[in-house]
Amino acid sequence: MLSVRSNMTRLISCINGPTLNLLGDREPEIYGTMTLEDIGVQLSEIGQAHGLSVEMKQSNSEGQIVDWIQIARKNSAGVILNAAAYTHTSIAIHDALRTLSIPVIEVHLSNPAAREDFRSVNYVTPVVTGSIAGLGPTGYVLALQALATLIPSS
Ligand code: DQA
Repeated sequence: MLSVRSNMTRLISCINGPTLNLLGDREPEIYGTMTLEDIGVQLSEIGQAHGLSVEMKQSNSEGQIVDWIQIARKNSAGVILNAAAYTHTSIAIHDALRTLSIPVIEVHLSNPAAREDFRSVNYVTPVVTGSIAGLGPTGYVLALQALATLIPSS
């Protein structure tokens, strides 16, 4: 978990779902060669310039992701979410997202809409502020920049 915080910074929770711990190694022709840690370092640097600290989290467990969304509801100014395969299956994550009033940007490295039919079901998109797909790790950077414009400065 990467976190750089001071009293003046606002927290962004970047929550990543199953098998994203294997980024860099997993199907690089689809997901690229950057690791999740590489992406986290980049987000932390960009976040600092906006007065935002970024906490990178990854879990293969649906319940853990629901718990992190509930924690973000209390302690974060915004969320970046790549729910990975749970995007296409999880009513529990959908319901947890519905409780948030902070901005949430959904990110996918690949473009699920251009892949297998089962990826066209999406329980996340209807309950987030915006979605970015198909741009690789750049999608995370764009999500953070979008949050920087959406979150009121303290
Ligand atoms: C993914 C797309 C999902 O369909 C897939 O299950 C993933 C990764 C992406 O970032 O492209 O695990 O969320």
